[in-house]
Amino acid sequence: MSTVQPGRTAASSQPATQGDKVVRLELDAQGIATLRLGAADEAVVTLTKARLDSLEQALQQLAAEPKLRGVVITGPGPGMFCAGADIGLIQDVATSAEGRAAAERGRTVFARCRQLKVPVVAAIEGPCLGGGCELALFCDVRVASDHGSTQIGLPEVKLGILPGFGGTQNLARLLGLPKALDLILNGKLLRGKAARKQGLIDRLVPSEKLLRAAREEIERLVTARRKAPPRRLRGAAFWLSRTPLRALAVRAAGKALAQGQARFYPAPRLALQCCVQAFTDSHDRGFAAEAQALGELIVTPVSKGLVHLFFLTERSKRLGKHEHARDLQRALVVGGGVMGAGIAGQLAEKGLRTRLCDVDLAPLQKAKARLQQELDKRLRRGHLERHDAQAIQDRLAVATDWGSLHDTDLWLEAVVEDLGVKQKLMAQAIARGLPDTAILATNTSSLSVTAMAQALPNPARVVGIHFFNPPEKMPLVEVIRGRDTSDAAVATACRLAVRLGKFPVVTADAPGFLVNRCLSPYLNEAARLLLEGTSAEAIDAAMLDFGMPMGPCRLLDEVGFDVAAKVSAVMQAAFPQRMVPCDLFAAMAKERHLGQKTGGGIYGKDGTGPGPGRAVVERLRQQRGTPARPASRAELVQRLVYPLVDEAYRCLDDGIVQDERDLDLGLVMGIGFPPFTGGITRWAQREGLSTILMALDTLARSGAERFSPSDGLRRRAST
Ligand SMILES: NC(=O)c1ccc[n+]([C@@H]2O[C@H](COP(=O)([O-])OP(=O)(O)OC[C@H]3O[C@@H](n4cnc5c(N)ncnc54)[C@H](O)[C@@H]3O)[C@@H](O)[C@H]2O)c1
Repeated sequence: MSTVQPGRTAASSQPATQGDKVVRLELDAQGIATLRLGAADEAVVTLTKARLDSLEQALQQLAAEPKLRGVVITGPGPGMFCAGADIGLIQDVATSAEGRAAAERGRTVFARCRQLKVPVVAAIEGPCLGGGCELALFCDVRVASDHGSTQIGLPEVKLGILPGFGGTQNLARLLGLPKALDLILNGKLLRGKAARKQGLIDRLVPSEKLLRAAREEIERLVTARRKAPPRRLRGAAFWLSRTPLRALAVRAAGKALAQGQARFYPAPRLALQCCVQAFTDSHDRGFAAEAQALGELIVTPVSKGLVHLFFLTERSKRLGKHEHARDLQRALVVGGGVMGAGIAGQLAEKGLRTRLCDVDLAPLQKAKARLQQELDKRLRRGHLERHDAQAIQDRLAVATDWGSLHDTDLWLEAVVEDLGVKQKLMAQAIARGLPDTAILATNTSSLSVTAMAQALPNPARVVGIHFFNPPEKMPLVEVIRGRDTSDAAVATACRLAVRLGKFPVVTADAPGFLVNRCLSPYLNEAARLLLEGTSAEAIDAAMLDFGMPMGPCRLLDEVGFDVAAKVSAVMQAAFPQRMVPCDLFAAMAKERHLGQKTGGGIYGKDGTGPGPGRAVVERLRQQRGTPARPASRAELVQRLVYPLVDEAYRCLDDGIVQDERDLDLGLVMGIGFPPFTGGITRWAQREGLSTILMALDTLARSGAERFSPSDGLRRRAST
């Protein structure tokens, strides 16, 4: 076997098609090797098969190097260590055996770091995730840069799998069971400071000192004639890992995994078992069990669904990279209510100089306080430095007057849902000198963007940017293309959404766009079921068991019956055959039992127990004059979810979105359709389109015409 000569660089040979996706190795005159995980210009390093082969070859070369004193493993350049396994490879695994073999292969390569006789130090800057983190865990010491891009962790459960390259075993032994479970079961990523605090890294240094610090660690160990520093678990970490008290940590984690949405995800449960095995079994058996578990998980529909969703989020992010997309710097948000305040706070947080205007002072003061609350939360969690929080607050100015618009490049309105008011404000913005290049955006949830832009001199720059409530939390943004909206305006809106950390989906300008249109029959049907005699608790439990984050009755309380009544009237006008609003909406709105905002609706003020609106439900039930008929679980799914599927396909066929993938992403991010299904079309195909069609036909024949399936569903079911 050839050895690397001091001062020379060696790149392992690779198949021509893999380009330079290999590791680079350099050995200096002091016998310290630097192993870089990629080529200098590689922006994102993933663990492809070629890179693993190359890493193995390099480590084999080093094992045969007589002058070797230590090894530094680092990224290709500043801001990147290794983002983990190539997710395309995860997607392609077809059998458990293949998955297990891939895990064993990765771990065996990484374990060569431990087999080297000399100290191996990981020098980390930038993402060090998944397989990248597992490689670092096989190193003897981990040094990280305090650069903002540094992020370390094992997010595998988010793809429905577990860390399979030794991660569960090595992290549990390094940090002890409680900390390892917290990180692995939740897929948490840590910034440099937090990683140091948790013990995941040994030393945190400024970026420019990273490689020097790594070499110092090697020299220190060489002087002490050690390969690795001594490590022992202490205190609670010891007692809760290495003694029978471990049962306490296991019970607490197991309890959390049995509740809520966690029930639907098998990966954290298997990861828990593997982490425990790190303390109850030999290294070899622990590693073997981990590989076996990875093999089982990687072929589950849950993992395939989550991986599918991952690619959809990447596709959505690419919308922001369109050649016509511009970066925006200065925003004016008009309307400082529920939505405007949240949006303005988000804009300021992501670096836009933002002015929030309202006719009233009170909402403006509230908006500043709301932003401060958000910032305080992040300060408490250590996710933000105080001076950064101050800078964000300083970027958000509030006023009752718009001031000068000459350098504004985003004008966005979030005032009352009234076409006349919105049209007038847009015209005013232009009259007051908004530059020709600025985007005019509306956050409307039901009005026509085309109509809003109609009378303006340049309607091409008017676009809908529909945030969901609350904008701080909701990940979806519908970017609405009006009849005259330009590609550049759409692309710029998408870029803004991505900058805010959201996922844009582009929709056509039609009632309800995508999300509210699909949500409408779902919420309507829940209200009908309620009036027919199914309890709100039973309806919500059925949908929680389906995997929704919240039942539809609770959701109605959150949305507010006034909003539900208003939106459903718009939807009825557009789709009179199938979207006639349930009487409950108007009745609740009339009696001001609006939901959370008025001290309760179907549920009480805090979202639990019966609320004041139950009396309205009871009265409407009696007026119906038919005996109460509680629906079965199966009927609930058929009447709530099947029409949602049909409406989604109708949106595709009507050109509201262009691709099934938009339906999958839009409804997961917009209404919380269970992510583990991979999205609504994936779920529908697994459920069987002909099953759905047949059930809807039967419901329609029983007299409820609203269920009549679309021709599109019929066509799809027949192929
Ligand atoms: N609330 C939601 O869940 C939600 C979700 C998505 C979109 N939207 C849309 O966002 C928009 C705002 O909704 P909201 O819930 O924030 O309403 P809101 O009633 O909470 O806030 C509207 C604000 O606009 C202000 N305002 C009214 N006329 C104004 C004017 N001429 N100039 C400046 N300010 C003016 C009001 O004082 C009020 O503070 C609507 O178009 C709505 O359809 C709402």
